[in-house]
Amino acid sequence: MNERARPENLATLENSPFFMPFSMNRAFKKAPRLLARAEGMYYYTPDGRKVLDGTSGLWCVNAGHCRKPIVEAVQKAVATLDYAPPFQMGHPAAFEFAERLAPLLPKGVNRIFFTNSGSESVDTALKLAIAYHRQRGEGQRVRLIGREKGYHGVNFGGTAVGGIVGNRKIFGALVAGVDHMRHTHDPAKNAFSRGQPAHGGELAEDLERLCQLHDPSTIAAVIVEPVACSAGVYVPPVGYLQKLREICDRHGILLIFDEVINAWGRLGKPFAADYFGVMPDLITTAKGITNGTVPMGAVFMKESLYEAFMTGPENAIEMPHGYTYSGHPIACAAGLGTLKVYEDEGLLTRVGELAKYWEDGAHSLKDCPNVIDIRNLGLIAAIEIAPRPGAAGARGLETHIKAFEKGTYMRVTADTIALAPPLIIQKTEIDQLFATVREVLKTVA
Ligand SMILES: Cc1ncc(COP(=O)(O)O)c(C=O)c1O
Repeated sequence: MNERARPENLATLENSPFFMPFSMNRAFKKAPRLLARAEGMYYYTPDGRKVLDGTSGLWCVNAGHCRKPIVEAVQKAVATLDYAPPFQMGHPAAFEFAERLAPLLPKGVNRIFFTNSGSESVDTALKLAIAYHRQRGEGQRVRLIGREKGYHGVNFGGTAVGGIVGNRKIFGALVAGVDHMRHTHDPAKNAFSRGQPAHGGELAEDLERLCQLHDPSTIAAVIVEPVACSAGVYVPPVGYLQKLREICDRHGILLIFDEVINAWGRLGKPFAADYFGVMPDLITTAKGITNGTVPMGAVFMKESLYEAFMTGPENAIEMPHGYTYSGHPIACAAGLGTLKVYEDEGLLTRVGELAKYWEDGAHSLKDCPNVIDIRNLGLIAAIEIAPRPGAAGARGLETHIKAFEKGTYMRVTADTIALAPPLIIQKTEIDQLFATVREVLKTVA
């Protein structure tokens, strides 16, 4: 075991200089929950306790932990080519990875820009959308439309189009020219829906309202998560995404699907676009692209977008955008190893077989104390519990901590438990996961 992971060395975390992201730093450092190693469906704590991974780390470890083909690919890559500059230079693994990814992408989406995270993918896609319109002589299309309750990472563009108030309010005016559609969450009509809610498809018309408000010819792009995950799992109502596509087509607006979580088999198809049968113009992704092993993201786009930039003199840089680590050799190796596991084990479609069992398990929790809604799609489920009066989020946090003590890790946002385990999960582990949630909810007053 790594020296630093030994419990006796962790006594001093209270004064640790590490400023933890999206965490309650002071409370955590007083009572840390640490993970020291992982294998398959499980994490292990520094003192050797086994913890079932109920949320694929942070929705990213779709193939399970420390998978041999990925580990070996990374080990080999790091010992062969540690780094290669991506501007005006290249290395074989980036081209090979793009070549291997292209046939997996939804029809018509075939060009790939590499980034290092979901946040970078989102900001890249937003910039590409604005630049694309300008390339075509529609430089007035500069507005960006997001949606309430959307999460698109934490960079300026993504924060601006995002719709989670707590993630926006302390960061100033963000980006000009952004507006938001209404969210689709309607518990009065849709609570305890199995899969896609029946009510609310017409909420897509809110985009038409914004088009009329701003003049559609000023709008560059609309970005949505097909299933909004981080804010609490909001499944799109039947017909909603189709309507968004129609409105975008009517007005020449690009549609971006943020599939940072939805992609890589989470819904039983490689991409949510495949699952819903709605084709966006751009797809942003990250997380499962390398199984979470090495940071990486990507933007996938239609040929027509790429072509719009391949004009002008050949000795000019077509896209003045990119990152020092775009298409990093070790990330590409991790990605190639990940695709091998996904393909060898049929993981990009395995959820199709599990989804019904998963849905039944999730909805069996309906009678647990304080449960006010259960939402699910593919291998995603949210169990929402009523907030404790005057202390929103307290029940959620207690549930998270108690579950961890009982050997299960699950992500909680406010009072919603979000479950999305690795796609290799077995039915017995699904049972175990929901049994733990039930047991814990009984003890959270
Ligand atoms: C839909 C979506 N977009 C963007 C992001 C940001 O990704 P990252 O944390 O890799 O920057 C996330 C992260 O959860 C996400 O769920």
